[in-house]
Amino acid sequence: MARTLCVFDAYGTLFDVSAAARRAAEEPGRAALAQGWQRLAEVWRLKQLQYSWLRAVTGTHCDFWQVTEDGLDWALEATGLDGDADLRARLLALYRELEAYPEVPAMLEQLKDDGRSCAILSNGAPAMLAAAVESAGIGRHLDAVLSVEEVGVFKPARAVYDMVGARFGTAPGEVLFVSSNGWDAAAAAGYGFETVWVNRAGDAVDRLPWTPQHIRHDLNDIPRLAGL
Ligand code: LAC
Repeated sequence: MARTLCVFDAYGTLFDVSAAARRAAEEPGRAALAQGWQRLAEVWRLKQLQYSWLRAVTGTHCDFWQVTEDGLDWALEATGLDGDADLRARLLALYRELEAYPEVPAMLEQLKDDGRSCAILSNGAPAMLAAAVESAGIGRHLDAVLSVEEVGVFKPARAVYDMVGARFGTAPGEVLFVSSNGWDAAAAAGYGFETVWVNRAGDAVDRLPWTPQHIRHDLNDIPRLAGL
């Protein structure tokens, strides 16, 4: 059954979350970061996500910009890069305008040519998402940019996936859901979406009660999968 709607996770799926640390490391005067930007990017992402889950299970929601800042502060300290206010500010500024992965514009264009609707469903706060969509220049391909701020809880709470049907009037089985986060792809599959896990890093499959139907290394195959 062809899918009428393709829904994308944002951070790590459309937008390259390691681009902020990588770009900052290329700038003059950042020798310490140049040594260890990969580890900083990895720890930053991991802590950002951990804080989102902890906020969700403890019922202490804040927006994703807050957990992004909190995760960065933890990561800077853990990697010995804390105490440089300029670096912190620069990393956050770069995070607001992350690059999209190179195949993203053509992939979205193909989906639109094929008559699919396309949307983002993200933990990101509306202002963060608007800035990233704008800097990546992909706004014209998107029918909606849905932020969890509408429901006040982070993924993978079911209330977040419910937002898709509420907006588009689709049944879960009409949706192709695409995420680079194994846990997000798994939970979305459990919810009833046809799901693609974009596993760029070759990570192990998450041990959860559900598994994504498709695993790909990048987004190039999405238009074909949407037509199956
Ligand atoms: C998002 C995070 C989970 O965009 O990547 O929702």
